[in-house]
Amino acid sequence: MTGQNPTAIEIDTNKPHPARMYDWYLGGRDNYPVDEALGRQMLALDPRVPVMARVNRAFMHRATRWLAQQGVRQFLDIGTGIPTEPNLHQVAQRIAPDARVVYCDNDPIVLAHASALLRSTPEGVTEYLQADVRDPDAIIEGARRILDLDRPVALSLVALLHFIPDEDGAHALVSRLLSALPSGSYLMMTHATADFTPEESAAAVEKLKAAGVTLALRSREEFARFFTGLDLVDPGVEIVHKWHPDLGEPVPGQDDGVIPGYGAVARKP
Ligand SMILES: C[S@@+](CC[C@H](N)C(=O)[O-])C[C@H]1O[C@@H](n2cnc3c(N)ncnc32)[C@H](O)[C@@H]1O
Repeated sequence: MTGQNPTAIEIDTNKPHPARMYDWYLGGRDNYPVDEALGRQMLALDPRVPVMARVNRAFMHRATRWLAQQGVRQFLDIGTGIPTEPNLHQVAQRIAPDARVVYCDNDPIVLAHASALLRSTPEGVTEYLQADVRDPDAIIEGARRILDLDRPVALSLVALLHFIPDEDGAHALVSRLLSALPSGSYLMMTHATADFTPEESAAAVEKLKAAGVTLALRSREEFARFFTGLDLVDPGVEIVHKWHPDLGEPVPGQDDGVIPGYGAVARKP
């Protein structure tokens, strides 16, 4: 585990954090009253937020499964979140026990729970890096210690980039990360959008902003731009739960109204 000493972790319980709110939506217990309070405000705007969180998590499972089936054996997962079983390495290693996975998040609570991410199969490896996606060079250097960057890597940015506004160069960060990976690597990504629920989304952005959380919702076109220069795999950019539903179980409630998020997987030529 690199980046910070886990015994010296400071968790700010006065301010809501996306990782802990997501944990609350998923029914986890690693969150604080301040996270639940803001989470309940989000539910008041759209009661389907917990379904969206589950749908998003299910995409990560299906995309990981698909990539492992294609022969991908290395994964770099940035914005990992608080461990929630099955975690990415468990999905990948069920298909390929030798899969190597580097996890990365910037929230100290994820670091505090990272031991659950480090239970690899004996044949594979998992590692956790405490780092910010806005420092891609540090992530690449950390990942290089575990992954062979001359062999394909799946870069996983699932429900992460809507926390990175354009001012922080979200698109350039993805390009920089991909530039360190060889041909045959993949990008898997989901992202929230205001395309279907503009009023509720604008209200959510305002409430989150007031609580100190940035949410940068992007349109379908802005999402698709992250894949410039890559070959999108079938079915291309899709509503999250419509991407390869054949590879997993449906999430209860996923079809009761629109899920305002896109998902896609693409290959670096
Ligand atoms: C909604 S959770 C997604 C978790 C997981 N990827 C999933 O989809 O199930 C977003 C995660 O991104 C992390 N995150 C937000 N901003 C980040 C940043 N600048 N650098 C690294 N991680 C970040 C949060 O701490 C949180 O754990």
